[in-house]
Amino acid sequence: MQRILTGDRPTGPLHLGHLVGTLRNRVRLQEKYDTILIIADLHMLTTRPGREDIERITDNARGLVLDYLSAGIDPDRTTIYLQSAIPEVYELNTLFQNLVTVNRLARIPSLKEMAQNAHLDEDSMPYGLLGYPVLQAADILLPRAHLVPIGRDNLSHVEVSREIARRFNNLYGEVFPLPEPLLGDIPSLVGTDGRGKASKSAGNAIMLSDDAATVRKRVRGMFTDPARVRADIPGTVEGNPVFVYHDAFNPDAAEVEELKERYRAGRVGDGEVKERLVEALERNVFAELRERRSRWASEKGLVDEILWDGTERMRGIARDTMREVRKAMGLDRAMVRMRRAAESRAKKKGVSD
Ligand code: TRP
Repeated sequence: MQRILTGDRPTGPLHLGHLVGTLRNRVRLQEKYDTILIIADLHMLTTRPGREDIERITDNARGLVLDYLSAGIDPDRTTIYLQSAIPEVYELNTLFQNLVTVNRLARIPSLKEMAQNAHLDEDSMPYGLLGYPVLQAADILLPRAHLVPIGRDNLSHVEVSREIARRFNNLYGEVFPLPEPLLGDIPSLVGTDGRGKASKSAGNAIMLSDDAATVRKRVRGMFTDPARVRADIPGTVEGNPVFVYHDAFNPDAAEVEELKERYRAGRVGDGEVKERLVEALERNVFAELRERRSRWASEKGLVDEILWDGTERMRGIARDTMREVRKAMGLDRAMVRMRRAAESRAKKKGVSD
């Protein structure tokens, strides 16, 4: 069975952008692939190394697991684990650091974006943040994954993983498959404010864990066509967040078409378009999310058990790969020789005693 590895940083709840960017692919493919989800707390430390961030890892990790389960991840099929609990991740990261250049990493736009969001300039850019894609390569290649379902912002990181895998295999022998990225139907969902992609840090996203009142409030506050100050002015549908969301989350194509026509003709108010979006979201997305979430959350300790079991399973996988890696690189040889020498000396001593 081929393997999937993908995951998220435990920085807060997931939103609709994650659902259409990667979660739906994970859910759909978990039956066909041995699927592993990583809660990437070491990646979080690249921009948030503070004690208060570390203290929030447990709660945020539990929240992520519930987000996964509510989206339809089945813990009997899918392994979910906590990155920092697997020492082999750090180990492989150290080895991979030599297989990519500083220049290659410095050119990656998503790193600059992450640095900006964290208010880091050139002088305060941590070494670890530059190495973010290398650590991600260690995540992906440790279980020797074949497929990586992600949103667009992670595409360049998977590209780095492929380059590192290719370089490793060329230098030391075939250990790693080349991981394929897989983008979702909407690899980058616009934010409710119409400014760039939906993101938790920008506060322009609808969370999977939002209650009905919050979903309604966020939809009502959505940016639409700024030129349209009255309902009888013809509006633009293309790129308009309300219609982007209708296209993404309202499967009633006839209703969406009719709303678009009336919008273009100036025969429908923003309020009605938004109200229909709220209803579509509740019916087609949130009803199921909330039903599953309350079911999984009702059993005390279950989420922790899922993470614990997943981490245990990952430990075995990680050990197997690192054994192969050390063997391929010849890193095990020095210690084997020393052990032999030490043992034979001990034996001789035993004889002469
Ligand atoms: N970089 C991902 C993010 O944007 C998190 C992540 C860490 C990840 N390791 C991964 C995603 C491995 C896919 C595969 O939060």
